[in-house]
This record gives sequence, C-alpha cells and structure tokens, in this order.
Amino acid sequence: MDGNGRWAQARGLPRTDGHTEGEENLARLVRIAVRADVGWLTVFGFSTENWIRPRPEVRHILGLHERLFGRVAELNELNVRIQWMGRPFDTPDARTPKYVQRAIRKAIRDTAANTGMVLTVAFDYGSRAEILHAARQARVGGQALTVASLGAHLYVPELPPVDVVVRTSGERRVSNFMLWQSQGAAISFTAKPWPEFDAEGLHTALSLVRG
Ligand code: IPE
Ligand code: MG
Repeated sequence: MDGNGRWAQARGLPRTDGHTEGEENLARLVRIAVRADVGWLTVFGFSTENWIRPRPEVRHILGLHERLFGRVAELNELNVRIQWMGRPFDTPDARTPKYVQRAIRKAIRDTAANTGMVLTVAFDYGSRAEILHAARQARVGGQALTVASLGAHLYVPELPPVDVVVRTSGERRVSNFMLWQSQGAAISFTAKPWPEFDAEGLHTALSLVRG
C-alpha cells in the first residue's frame, strides 16, 4: 500500500495523515473487492524493513493496525475472514508489540466463521524472512526440501498463488512481498498513491487476470 507519505506531502500534511487515510482506504477497498467477487485480498501493511522509520511514524502505523484489526463488525457484515502473516510472534526477530498481537488474535478469532473473501494483512512481514523460516521449518521436520514441502511451511500455506500484484504510487520495482507466491503473476501499475486507489484501479488489475 505504497504512497501514503507522498499523498500527504502533496497536500502539505504530515506523513502520518497519509497513513491514516491509507487505512481508511483499505476499509473502502475491502468493500469494493467483496462486491467485485475477489476471493483473496492480501495487503502489505508493514514490512520487516519499516521498523527503521522514525519512532513517531512507526507508533502511528502500529495504532492504525490496531484500528484495522478492530474492524470486526464491518468484516462480519461483509462475511470477510481476516488473516495475518508476518514473523511469528514467538520467534527471536519478531517485533510486533503485544497490543497489536492481541488485536490480531482477536480479529482472527472473531471473523473465523466467515466464508466470503479472505483478507490477509502482512505486518512485520518480509518475503525473504518467510522463505527462510519455511526452509528451516521443513528442515526441522526432517523433510526433503521441495517446492511442496517449503510451500507447506509458508506463514499462511492456504493462500493460493498470486494472480495479480498491484503496485501503487508509480513504483515499478519489486518489493520484499510474496516473492515465492507471485511467480507468474500479472502486475498492475498505477500512478495513484494508495489513499486514492479505488474501484477503477481494482477493476483494471482484475481485467489482467479475468480476461
Ligand atoms: C506505505 O506508504 C505505508 C507503509 C510502508 C507503512 P509509504 O510510507 O511508503 O509512502 P511513501 O512511499 O513515502 O509515499
Ligand atoms: Mg513507500
């Protein structure tokens, strides 16, 4: 969900306002994606690299994730099941604070029975960390390292292969996001920063994979 900072700067607002608007746009986009019959929506909320940002910005983004995972009533109304992926809370490098952990656990529990779209939020997530973790898990289990055995140890093994990756805010580079899962995926580029990504952007992305 790139471009929150630039969206704010272009309006003479602090970067944190851009993150706030980005969280609100995600709530809008979830509604739009459900209406468009999307089965799996996975968003990059906060990366393993983002912790080096200024403390106040990090704190603000943490609070927004608490708010996001607190949207249980909306998710239930939409029949959306929420998931999280990132460095497991009990591993040495994990950085997710306790209050965000609690919000994540509660949201997962309180939306577990929903049967519609699955929304997966990547928080304290990095694709390289995920692949390393999966490889180590497979090795601990004594399994031969194969595409299938590694795939079974990804953070959320039930996620299907990625159909289309959306890059917002004019970014045209690959990020540390779902590198294993997005082999062969289409990429949809848009100049719009994340807070402005809308139904039109989603439908453009879907048209790349729905013919
Ligand atoms: C994305 O917006 C939000 C996070 C990475 C948490 P950015 O903060 O990357 O916004 P830009 O790229 O500076 O515009
Ligand atoms: Mg950015």
